[in-house]
Amino acid sequence: MSYLTLHALKKTYPNGITAVKDIDLEIERGEFVVLLGPSGCGKTTTLRMLAGLEEVTKGSIVLDGRDITHLPPRQRDISMIFQSYAVWPHMTVAENVAYPLKLRKMQKSDIAAKVQDVAKVCKISDYLDRYPGQLSGGQRQRVAVARALAVNSKLSLMDEPLSNLDAKLRVSVRTFLKEIHRTTGATTIFVTHDQSEAMALADRIVVMNEGSIEQVGSTREIYNECGSLFTAQFMGTPPANIQKVVIHAEGAQLFAKAKEGSQAFSLYLGLTEALPGMARLAGKEVFLAVRPENIRVSSPRGVNETTVEIVEPQGAYTILVTTVLGSEWKIMIEGDSDTKIGAHISLDIDPRNIMLYDTETKKRINLGQ
Ligand SMILES: Nc1ncnc2c1ncn2[C@@H]1O[C@H](COP(=O)(O)OP(=O)(O)OP(=O)(O)O)[C@@H](O)[C@H]1O
Ligand SMILES: [Mg+2]
Repeated sequence: MSYLTLHALKKTYPNGITAVKDIDLEIERGEFVVLLGPSGCGKTTTLRMLAGLEEVTKGSIVLDGRDITHLPPRQRDISMIFQSYAVWPHMTVAENVAYPLKLRKMQKSDIAAKVQDVAKVCKISDYLDRYPGQLSGGQRQRVAVARALAVNSKLSLMDEPLSNLDAKLRVSVRTFLKEIHRTTGATTIFVTHDQSEAMALADRIVVMNEGSIEQVGSTREIYNECGSLFTAQFMGTPPANIQKVVIHAEGAQLFAKAKEGSQAFSLYLGLTEALPGMARLAGKEVFLAVRPENIRVSSPRGVNETTVEIVEPQGAYTILVTTVLGSEWKIMIEGDSDTKIGAHISLDIDPRNIMLYDTETKKRINLGQ
């Protein structure tokens, strides 16, 4: 049995809104799991049910062999860091960190030692006598982390703990959290709607959408093998180019064509013989998704030709905008590109990088190749 099991967990609020729909999830001891999804998808509700701050409508939560579904928060041995009000402003840093230990009736000398310990790990030893108001945002969040660490709970929950920080600080506190996790091995569930944060931190990512789990997997799986159209649309900056197409077999070649709109452009996919999985879909309408960085650009050579409409330099990479199958597509090129607006180009897409989705279920079609 897993360290933490959520079984058919459901939350319907008194106003009738079902925020979490029958979630099943298993987490191993020591894992850093990130719940990722757009605003309103049920991330906070899930965490609050775990912490005991929200009553569970149906289902169960088992932590380290103990059913905690209906236990009061104090008895769950879980710590939680929130997005705001992470530290108490009227207490010094040391008092903040010590407070939960006092609640647990730990001995004074043990508390002092523990505070010193976690302060060292979280690099706040120099600020123990200050009040939170005298700290920077990043330092304050480190205090919140120190306080959560001090209690040594079975499970650490973090609800967007970095969202109040500016972009630069976010990245540095995120690195800090990763270091902390490496040294403490604390089982952690971290909530964010920021995919780059999720990818950077997670052992496993749980993608949520409208109260359900879309996909669970490593960063690589979630990014490169999106199991659903939602995940393909949600992950990536810019996200995958997605287009409803019909697969056509013409002689020995396979193409994708838009059903409506511009018929002029058909996207060459490859040789039928080499792509049996796609060939089986000939005549069928599917969603096609290609990540911007999986498209190569070459001089026009009679296949997949198009014109560059916009060039967006980003320093480390350049985004080209063009029209494919009647829709706007983005292409990501490494480094600084000398491609100019109006340039004629050909697009190369390795068929292995093409993801296809069923138009009804919106789930990935397994091409078996
Ligand atoms: N106390 C409540 N009563 C009724 N509905 C609620 C309550 N709290 C949240 N909801 C609703 O439940 C759904 C999920 O909310 P939740 O706060 O879990 O989302 P979230 O994924 O954490 O979003 P965000 O990224 O914006 O924090 C939303 O539709 C929200 O409006
Ligand atoms: Mg939330």
